Amino acid sequence: MNIEDIKLVGVMGGGVMGGGIAQTFAAHGFRTVVRDLSDELIEKTRQSMVEGRFGLRGAVERGKMTQAEFDATLARFSFTQDVADLRDCDLVVEAVPENLDLKKSVFAELDATVKKAAIFASNTSGFAISDLNKAVARKDRFIGFHWFSPAFIMKIVEVVYAPETSEETIATMEAVGERLGKTTIRVKDAPGKYGFVANRIYFAMVAEAHRVLEEGVASAEDINTAMRLGFNWPAGPLEMVQGARKGWQ
Ligand SMILES: NC(=O)c1ccc[n+]([C@@H]2O[C@H](COP(=O)([O-])OP(=O)(O)OC[C@H]3O[C@@H](n4cnc5c(N)ncnc54)[C@H](O)[C@@H]3O)[C@@H](O)[C@H]2O)c1
Repeated sequence: MNIEDIKLVGVMGGGVMGGGIAQTFAAHGFRTVVRDLSDELIEKTRQSMVEGRFGLRGAVERGKMTQAEFDATLARFSFTQDVADLRDCDLVVEAVPENLDLKKSVFAELDATVKKAAIFASNTSGFAISDLNKAVARKDRFIGFHWFSPAFIMKIVEVVYAPETSEETIATMEAVGERLGKTTIRVKDAPGKYGFVANRIYFAMVAEAHRVLEEGVASAEDINTAMRLGFNWPAGPLEMVQGARKGWQ
């Protein structure tokens, strides 16, 4: 499968990440279908993709997208509760909650449903790709494709390959990342280590910031100030996680 063959993209899970991922694919010309579990969840995602803080309407208002592009983007995405509607997808990006058993069962269901040639990509924040891929037969077309939040805005995607991932799949997903306006980095799967590159390093820094706080070396506010002013971080290590986890409404 190469990028020209990718006509229809499926996104499993339309939460904080899945909505932003689907929005990005649709905005860059891909027909996209999002699967979530109820009308309420789907309506919430649609609302966030269009009207949310980093939604499409805001992109028009900020001059990042024309009204014609907005209309075309809206026409390119749709929603479903039925996995069978993803059967003709050429690429499926999984963004269900970070639960290993759930992800494996979702991939097993997808493997039985979606056409054999399709690539499966997981947005897991850190589970080993060589563990997740045990749920599918198509191990050469299984890869990590790890976005950052808010997905529509942040410029990097980690492309994480397991030993079984084919070079063709890696190259295709790098090309997809580029088409989406993202920079990709190539990451070797490291089973037993959680967080790929950016999160692994970031979590280590946050853990150290908590130790500094617990030892009474400095207040939380001063720790944040030190990292903002000392290293030009946009936010300190003790204040950054909340927005990403809670979503950006
Ligand atoms: N939030 C972040 O900052 C962030 C950043 C990068 C990666 N991630 C990863 O992205 C993934 C999703 O995280 P999130 O924050 O978007 O979670 P979320 O809880 O906001 O969204 C998950 C969505 O998946 C849906 N879902 C559950 N089971 C499903 C199923 N079987 N089929 C289809 N949809 C299903 C839920 O209803 C929900 O809407 C996780 O693996 C997480 O680690 C999160």
